[in-house]
Amino acid sequence: MAMTGKESTPLLKTALPGPKSKAIVARDDVALATTTKTAPVTAVQGRGVVIEDADGNRLLDFAAGIGVLNTGHCHPKVVAAVQGQASRLMHFAGTDFYYEQQVALAERLGAIAPIKGPVKTFYVQSGTEANEAAIKVTKAATGRQMFLAFLGAFHGRTQGALGLTASKVRQKEGFFPSMPGVVHTPFPNPYRNPWRIDGYDEPQELANRAIEAIEVLFETVLPPKDTAAVFWEPVQGEGGYVVPPKMFPKMLRKLCDENGILLAADEVQTGFGRTGKMFATEHFGITADTVSVAKAMGSGYPIGACLLSAKLDFKQKGQHSNTYGGNVLGCAASLATLDVLQGEKLVENSAKMGAHLGKRLDEFAKQHAFIGDHRGLGLMRALEFVDPKKKGVGGAPKADPKLRDAIEQATWKRGLITLGCGKNSLRFIPALNVTAAQIDGAMDVLGAALKSAA
Ligand SMILES: Cc1ncc(COP(=O)(O)O)c(C=O)c1O
Repeated sequence: MAMTGKESTPLLKTALPGPKSKAIVARDDVALATTTKTAPVTAVQGRGVVIEDADGNRLLDFAAGIGVLNTGHCHPKVVAAVQGQASRLMHFAGTDFYYEQQVALAERLGAIAPIKGPVKTFYVQSGTEANEAAIKVTKAATGRQMFLAFLGAFHGRTQGALGLTASKVRQKEGFFPSMPGVVHTPFPNPYRNPWRIDGYDEPQELANRAIEAIEVLFETVLPPKDTAAVFWEPVQGEGGYVVPPKMFPKMLRKLCDENGILLAADEVQTGFGRTGKMFATEHFGITADTVSVAKAMGSGYPIGACLLSAKLDFKQKGQHSNTYGGNVLGCAASLATLDVLQGEKLVENSAKMGAHLGKRLDEFAKQHAFIGDHRGLGLMRALEFVDPKKKGVGGAPKADPKLRDAIEQATWKRGLITLGCGKNSLRFIPALNVTAAQIDGAMDVLGAALKSAA
């Protein structure tokens, strides 16, 4: 099927999943290890926010490869950059030798990173490895071994990053010991928190309580003098797209500074324009000491980085390195991605279209009592599904993960791809070049899915 990427409605030729998709899923079940598969949706080609599945159906993609495709599927400039680079040089081990693309990309990342002063880049291939690098560099720079992270956080699944992750117990059970020395504290979630504060009405009170909780940890189980860094997501991603009170990050930064603790921002999901700013940290008027990035960095080509304040750099050769970090194809994809994000003003479009998407989601939240919360920044938005008649954690209505799953199913069956996050939320993260017509097309599908569940 020919597609421009600007189509604003699904076009279904078969019931979903169609026969060819079913056949792929059946083979996958046999041949692939178990991961996190959520829907039998297949893809053979994509443009912008539109994909065609194995049966020739057209779907709207509001999951964007889990927040990877900020420039959309197969942006022609990114495709041309990767194709051109592949015909000249595909790999050279930039950790041991040199090529200009790594330098050019690091210079550009350094210029936009929310870090004070000169910035250096350590390249990786994924988000979890970006955090592994941040763990090592903050340990090495401070000589300290402990970390503070937040309940609800997702920082990856390798054993170091897994120690920081506290999103779902399934991700950790059976895998202990992961990295020791991590203490977790509640994230100031305005909708449901241990202090039963309505953080939308009383943001300062919620921020105060969350800081107090950290101070208690500092006095009891987490000696500040042994703490290398606080890891945090400016907007919690896998934990449910939770936006903290606006003043909280500044208070956290101050607490870090008072104790010589580094602030390690994980912008793997929030980075590269997703929240309507290049990096979500910018919303809060602070800077971090390290910034982990991956996902959208290469528009689908696997590349990531730990951006670090230059003064934290490893002091000796060989303390950390890898084979593929900053692979030349990834650098080409990433340089083209930055060209597209900046040249086509996609960060601005994320803010503009995010406001439109937010308005449409607010309307649904008003119509349906089972939508307990709508939250997000830019084009990083989620709805939280609840049973309004029962009380749950933090005094908020009881989480209803079954309803969330049913609505997720009802959307993809109608040709809109979405993804769950947190225990009972559904996220909406289209490419940043999404149009208002495409958002409206997706919201029509969501509206029908919500009605079917009501
Ligand atoms: C905030 C955050 N950090 C780290 C990761 C891990 O990234 P990866 O799956 O590329 O290892 C993710 C993945 O969802 C994430 O959202």
